[in-house]
Amino acid sequence: MVKSILEGKTVVLGVSGGIASYKAVDLASKLTQEGATVKVVMTANATKFVGSITFQAVTHQPVLTNLFEDSFQSAISHVSICKDADIFIVAPATANIIAKAAHGLADDALSTTLLTASCTIVMVPAMNSQMWLNKATQHNLNVLKNRGIQIIEPEVGRLACGDEQAKGRFPETEFILNYIKGFLGKAQSLRGKTILITAGGTREPIDSVRFIGNRSSGKMGYAIAEAAKTKGANVILISGPTNLQPPFGVSVVYVETAQQMLQAVINNLSQADAVVMTAAVSDFRPAMKSNKKIKKESMPSSIELELNPDILEAISNKKDKQLVIGFAAETDNVLENATKKLKKKKLDLMVANNVSYPDFGFDSDFILAAFISDYGQQGSLEKYRKTELAEKVVEWIASKLA
Ligand SMILES: Cc1cc2nc3c(=O)[nH]c(=O)nc-3n(C[C@H](O)[C@H](O)[C@H](O)COP(=O)(O)O)c2cc1C
Repeated sequence: MVKSILEGKTVVLGVSGGIASYKAVDLASKLTQEGATVKVVMTANATKFVGSITFQAVTHQPVLTNLFEDSFQSAISHVSICKDADIFIVAPATANIIAKAAHGLADDALSTTLLTASCTIVMVPAMNSQMWLNKATQHNLNVLKNRGIQIIEPEVGRLACGDEQAKGRFPETEFILNYIKGFLGKAQSLRGKTILITAGGTREPIDSVRFIGNRSSGKMGYAIAEAAKTKGANVILISGPTNLQPPFGVSVVYVETAQQMLQAVINNLSQADAVVMTAAVSDFRPAMKSNKKIKKESMPSSIELELNPDILEAISNKKDKQLVIGFAAETDNVLENATKKLKKKKLDLMVANNVSYPDFGFDSDFILAAFISDYGQQGSLEKYRKTELAEKVVEWIASKLA
């Protein structure tokens, strides 16, 4: 018999108080039958629709419904329940739990447990179509999406309230089951692989307080680090100065200058299966650097510059098995220039991005990008959320390393 991807996995199932709560029993049962350990957390209102004993019976696990009683009477608590979780799915998710999660409220077992989760969270909203369409609900869903929480949209169909063909229906168990399996399958796709990522801009000192540098928030590289980590990779993130918190479980090497970044890349190159260069490396640096702050009165009339090493080219010359992916920020002839760089630097993939518009690139969450691979083949420039582009880059790497 074929082994299910669910075998050995831990799924936390949050159940809130909607009419579809009873359907979550079927989901809990099927997940358990396919080998997952299913830990259920219910809101008090969910227990009015279906008893916790039902979930306990189908999952063979204690169920958390009351923060103050269950934690002491059983082996689970809001803190321990998520510890080994591979995924946390809230199904059904009421308008109420969506609103509470969006605001970080923690006033019952489910909302409190959601705040302790470090795994991927997926919400499956189901409700009356007016509740779904309400601006407050839509706003809260956007808040959650921007935070990286995945939302399985409800289906259009007959609702319990009697509405025909309205949006708000809980999807079929098989659909949710396949979604979870798809996620867990992808999560395995980079297991055992090491991905080296550079992010942020470099700073090239003029003196001990001033520098020239490139604009870069580091968001793109950090998003790729997070996406690769989620798929099970060992991730080494070589980061210039940013304001970002590195993703959990990623090894970070902090650098400032292009030369330090080159050294850090070379030090880690041999263990990498793929290298993704998103960093905005300064092409040049001041030829002379003062170790002390240059006084205003001694201001030089000009600063002589010299070329920095080209890190991408250095990798191409040193690499053996590694896939090398570059990012080219361009303002003119974006695709042509990026294609030239791809060829010159013998890259496997180039992500060309147009940084001419203030809404894209640098500090934005969005990027206008195109993939150029296989030595010249071009895609077209499209708007991506950086987290979405990160997923695509990482999926591409996983498909090449498979
Ligand atoms: C019969 C009945 C069915 C309900 N179905 C839903 C539903 O499908 N989705 C929803 O968001 N709220 C539904 N509600 C409203 C929620 O139960 C209510 O907002 C509650 O406060 C949710 O609590 P919880 O999120 O803590 O479980 C329903 C209420 C009743 C009485």
